[in-house]
Amino acid sequence: MNILTLETTCDETAAAIVNDRLDVLASVVASQDQLHQRFGGVVPEIASRAHLERILPVVDETLRKAGLPLSEIGAVAVANTPGLAGSLLVGLAAAKALCVARQIPLIAVNHLQAHIYACRVAAQRDVFPCIGLIVSGGHSSLYRCRGPVDFEFLGGTIDDAAGEAFDKVAAMLGLPYPGGPSISRAAEQGNPKAFAFPRAFLREDRLDFSFSGLKTAVRYAIEKSGEKIAGSGKAQAQTSLPSPLSPLHCDLAASFQEAVVDCLVGKAMAALRQTGMKNLCVGGGVAANARLRERLHEESGRNGVELQIAPTRLCTDNAVMGAIAVERWKAGLTEDLDLDVYPGVLRKPH
Ligand code: KG4
Ligand code: ZN
Repeated sequence: MNILTLETTCDETAAAIVNDRLDVLASVVASQDQLHQRFGGVVPEIASRAHLERILPVVDETLRKAGLPLSEIGAVAVANTPGLAGSLLVGLAAAKALCVARQIPLIAVNHLQAHIYACRVAAQRDVFPCIGLIVSGGHSSLYRCRGPVDFEFLGGTIDDAAGEAFDKVAAMLGLPYPGGPSISRAAEQGNPKAFAFPRAFLREDRLDFSFSGLKTAVRYAIEKSGEKIAGSGKAQAQTSLPSPLSPLHCDLAASFQEAVVDCLVGKAMAALRQTGMKNLCVGGGVAANARLRERLHEESGRNGVELQIAPTRLCTDNAVMGAIAVERWKAGLTEDLDLDVYPGVLRKPH
């Protein structure tokens, strides 16, 4: 049985074909980074229009790469929550059309659960039960994952997501979008202790995150330094880092990154302690961050935690992680054609 999975939740148009043994037969990701770069963030209307133009060519390319005709596809899976409403609708409409045309089942995928499932696909062995940490441009959340179709929300950001904070701080520093890789590269040359930025809730039991105070603290530090940062606050059209980077840039980037990493690692370890679980799976775009990966390995080693981090290529949005649909299909969880999109995070996820 082959499943075609579609992913259009934000600004990546992606499709993949996986079989019920979780072999990945093909994967295609059409990134829209260049379209959004000059705005310093994703513009929802541009994203949905681009998905509309790309979704069918991406599906065709995926079938071509897998060397399969459409008749060999046994079900279509689509991420229908959470995400940008217009973007989600394009993927869902395409999935439904394929299901009607081929008379095959439709499977709903929760994008956040799929980010965690990227760890399962890469590990090629069971990773459940586990604590799931999702850190992306839109979300920073912790889940208790009892099994691949049984997720319980434990906590999340009360304001900005970690990736959003990376993107906004990069814009303040005049660094190119997406901000995560830019900050990470600037941080390599900086001192993470140069600025004592806040770490919200770190000393409390609650499993939540907040990054807006940290963002403001970076803004004040820039103002206090008196240094004029070229392009600060404006979206950057360029793709490479300014050269040379000022020491202030690098110190701010390193200190900001360290504060985010402390919060993410601290809360993930707290979730493991509070639930008594010993497995941690981490996914989402920010999980590509080298410093976060390093600190997760250190703390997991120290606390006897078995750690899986999605490989970098499966951290940012892709359709391979939609392989979680295999689990839903095996559990008999297919959908009617009146399935809708849910842009917000479902506290009781499907
Ligand atoms: O998971 P993703 O592709 O999209 C969402 O579902 O949101 O995550 C995109 C986010 C962006 O905010 C980007 O800045 C961040 O992931 N990101 C990183 C790194 N690479 C991408 N953040 C920190 N360090 C990185 N190396
Ligand atoms: Zn994502």
